Amino acid sequence: MGTPIRDGAARGARRRPEPRAARGDEPRARRADAAATPIARGSARRARYAVTAMPRYHVTTFGCQMNEHDSERMKGMLESLGYTEAPSQDEADLILFNTCSIREAADSRFLAHLGHAKRRKRERPDVVIGVGGCWAQSVKEEIFQRFPFVDVAFGPGQVHKLAEFLTSDSLTAQGFFEFEGFTGDLPAKRARDFQGWLQISVGCNMKCSYCIVPSTRGRDVGRPLATLVAEAERMAAEGVTEVTLLGQNVNAYGRDLARRGYPRATFAELLRAIDAIDGIRRIRYTSPHPQDMKEDVIRAHAELPSLCEHVHLPLQSGSSRVLKRMRRTYTRERYLDRVALLREHVPDIAITTDIIVGFPGETEEDFEQTLSLCEEVGYDGAFTFIYSPRRETEAAAMPDQIPHEVKVERMERLVEVIQRRARERAQRFVGRTLEVLVEGPSRTDPSKLRGRCRHNKVVNFTGLARPGEYVQVEITSATSQTLAGEESLLARAGAR
Ligand code: SAH
Ligand code: SF4
Ligand code: F3S
Repeated sequence: MGTPIRDGAARGARRRPEPRAARGDEPRARRADAAATPIARGSARRARYAVTAMPRYHVTTFGCQMNEHDSERMKGMLESLGYTEAPSQDEADLILFNTCSIREAADSRFLAHLGHAKRRKRERPDVVIGVGGCWAQSVKEEIFQRFPFVDVAFGPGQVHKLAEFLTSDSLTAQGFFEFEGFTGDLPAKRARDFQGWLQISVGCNMKCSYCIVPSTRGRDVGRPLATLVAEAERMAAEGVTEVTLLGQNVNAYGRDLARRGYPRATFAELLRAIDAIDGIRRIRYTSPHPQDMKEDVIRAHAELPSLCEHVHLPLQSGSSRVLKRMRRTYTRERYLDRVALLREHVPDIAITTDIIVGFPGETEEDFEQTLSLCEEVGYDGAFTFIYSPRRETEAAAMPDQIPHEVKVERMERLVEVIQRRARERAQRFVGRTLEVLVEGPSRTDPSKLRGRCRHNKVVNFTGLARPGEYVQVEITSATSQTLAGEESLLARAGAR
């Protein structure tokens, strides 16, 4: 991971459990204007089903890994209903968007895509348009007023309702926004057979003052340990060797289990249980919160053979004053102390982060503290974000918003430090032989292969391996973002 200026996308997310009490069993028809088109729409849909043996879907995914995971489950669910995947929106009978709302840029990107879907609907009124995910959850019913061509909308806690909608004879557009279940309980369609997501929890109980996620994904609810272990065992039996545990605040895992009548468990115990599963060679997780990065989890990195030597530890700001206004619940010193403890137990560990520049009230001095912390830590990579005011968040109402030019100028200075330090850090791999899980051809040079080492660096290399194989690669050069090398054919011969 290098320093992409991740412009809106983000990773780590959670899902919003909302009280079930609010849920009616019937899907609520919305849209004041629903009466204008529903009959045509409903009958068109039925007609299409009659003539199309295998309806085709297309899903466009925005946002974090949580959304990528949810999209895989959406696809798995649709395929269990007899749908097949279309290579493009234009060839699909069902056009779906899994949306993100983390920053304004994410909203705008999605709205641009929606324009294309609108034109498609005009050409072929029987096409069904669905909008799921965090943006849908954040605007709820309003979506049908603003975009009358949308047939179905659903929040991250109601992906399964899409199936109900598609199989019903409903004549009106419908929206589903109450939390009802984990997307992780739906069937998966994995992008790669050997890598799997494991959703360990939904939602977030933190109250970071800039963040929309608690309002789109709700309160933190964990899946029981036994369910997770059973799912990971199933994945291993299906050929998954690398599993990524997903949640908004993964290391807070387990706190709600006893209250809900399940056996107690901690995140470190979950890591141990997954490590013990035969066939799982690598465990990753995202994202932990620095507040909950306790010694048991740090020890697990030193002790568990499958737990990778990489931690993504979101910083947000290097200034304790800003951290307090962000409601991050740790100080600069506490953060640095966590980094020191990680390095004490696993000296070579790769550390990546998320940083926001231009948070309201961030002074030049605050920003310099972020720079100095980045110099000191020497991240292996970072996602850097320009602060974006989000609806109904505390920070959006703060008076001292930072001018855009100042944010951009600070971002440039931050990226310089992050990239320089990442490049320097990456040199430690040159001359070493690293285990790489092959993912496919290199994106820049198809004659080469691409994979990831345990430190989560992308490695482009020459070799004979196939996707899914673990190979030894001799690293010959390194930039801030990627490593380059050659597959060790000696090791391959030895392994035979
Ligand atoms: N739950 C994870 C990540 C949540 S969103 C965590 O707490 O680490 C991913 C990243 O998006 C955050 O870490 C933060 O850096 C960034 N982000 C969230 N809200 C933002 C906003 N309003 N403006 C800019 N960046 C934001
Ligand atoms: Fe948002 Fe903070 Fe929760 Fe992360 S921990 S999802 S930044 S509220
Ligand atoms: Fe993820 Fe975006 Fe939602 S970052 S949790 S998809 S708002």
